[in-house]
Amino acid sequence: MIGQRSDWAIQAAPAGHRAVIVQVPGDKSVSHRALLFNALALRSAPPRQTHAGVRVTGLLESEDVGRTRLACEQLGVRMLRESSGVGEPVAWRIERAESRLGPLSIDCGNSGTTARLLIGALAGLQDPDGAPMAIVAALHGDASLGRRPMRRVIEPLRKMGARFEVGDAGTLPLTLFPVGLRGIEHRSTIASAQVKSAILLAGLTAQGPTRYTEPSVSRDHTERFFTAMGADFESEGLTSTVWPGRLNPVDVEVPGDVSSAAFWMVAACILEGTELTLPAVGINPTRTGAIDVLRRMGADISVEERGGVEPIGDVRVRCSGLRGTTLSGALIPRLIDEIPVLAVAAAFAEGETVIRDAEELRVKESDRIATVVDALRAMGAEAEATADGMRIFGRGGAGMRAAQVASHGDHRIAMAFAVAGLRTGMSVQDVACVATSYPLFYRDLSLFSG
Ligand code: S3P
Repeated sequence: MIGQRSDWAIQAAPAGHRAVIVQVPGDKSVSHRALLFNALALRSAPPRQTHAGVRVTGLLESEDVGRTRLACEQLGVRMLRESSGVGEPVAWRIERAESRLGPLSIDCGNSGTTARLLIGALAGLQDPDGAPMAIVAALHGDASLGRRPMRRVIEPLRKMGARFEVGDAGTLPLTLFPVGLRGIEHRSTIASAQVKSAILLAGLTAQGPTRYTEPSVSRDHTERFFTAMGADFESEGLTSTVWPGRLNPVDVEVPGDVSSAAFWMVAACILEGTELTLPAVGINPTRTGAIDVLRRMGADISVEERGGVEPIGDVRVRCSGLRGTTLSGALIPRLIDEIPVLAVAAAFAEGETVIRDAEELRVKESDRIATVVDALRAMGAEAEATADGMRIFGRGGAGMRAAQVASHGDHRIAMAFAVAGLRTGMSVQDVACVATSYPLFYRDLSLFSG
């Protein structure tokens, strides 16, 4: 299905009891960082120091993460997929490759995380002796990524001294010339982990400390990696400070992606009689807003936690009817990617759900305020878009019907409305995009319809 348009025809799942276990694929945010941060660590190790490389298990093997992998290989590391036994998670070995960097042309595909993190990492890219690399890096992506705002990283990086060639729209494609950077104090007006990560990565190569303050907490994977990788780094409340230095390579166990798990949590909530188990999901508190909201809406969700750099837990969901709720403020960054499927949950709930403070949805892989509301209406739901969110008037699913819904090339729209289709039946069009984050989504969807 990769790279070509195709559609799903989804049948409503039969009524009755079902026990479903879904092993969701690796966390996308953690996978990008496990590859990129280790690549930076390995390539910046002192010239005569040998390092056996690192092992990353449970990596998400998707198109977006594949973009980061190819970019890392261009930066001078080798990534080898190690064969693993049946039922064992996939493992990748990352090693330093002896290569000289020439001009780079990096295709970020559909992946905002690849683009923004790389921009930060490349702005002050250094050779192992600590001098700025004398290279030119051109970054480009697909049509959707080419519309997404990059000024949010370019402007603070320019304050640090970074050099770019970029069009007036402040979007990809752009060209970047690594230079010596200076640390800054930056207060961001958007709670974006991609922006935060880009500035902190640049800070590793800058003169003096780089201090970044966000308006509310966004996912903190970069901070956890920096700590585990021995960066000179400190984080307190909404402010993170990094001092220049190298990262140490680190083995990583990537947890299951809670954003992918959210599709099945909602499926369990709207299909009465479902008992769902999601083993080994990432339950980093900066990512679990969807669990909090579904509980508030009436779902019975239990989480059995195990420790680690990234906390992991087995999640169990049972549900008998949802009620509407309000999503706003500091909760939004903790569930920003889950809003499309939470909107589906809201349409099958009783009562009104209001989503506010979520204008970031307008600059995701599609304008998710418009694409979600249009698709809900096509299904017969009562929903209206607002400037920074939406209102959904749920009637327990009454009046909802099968519809034809376009993904707009946005993986989370395709998957959210496929889940809705388990109740009503659905035709979801142009679904090749799910390969960006969950290539085997359709296989796992069928676990609910059997
Ligand atoms: C991500 C951060 C979020 C999220 C995206 C992945 C990350 O974007 O929507 O899917 O890995 O840092 P923003 O940081 O722009 O909100």
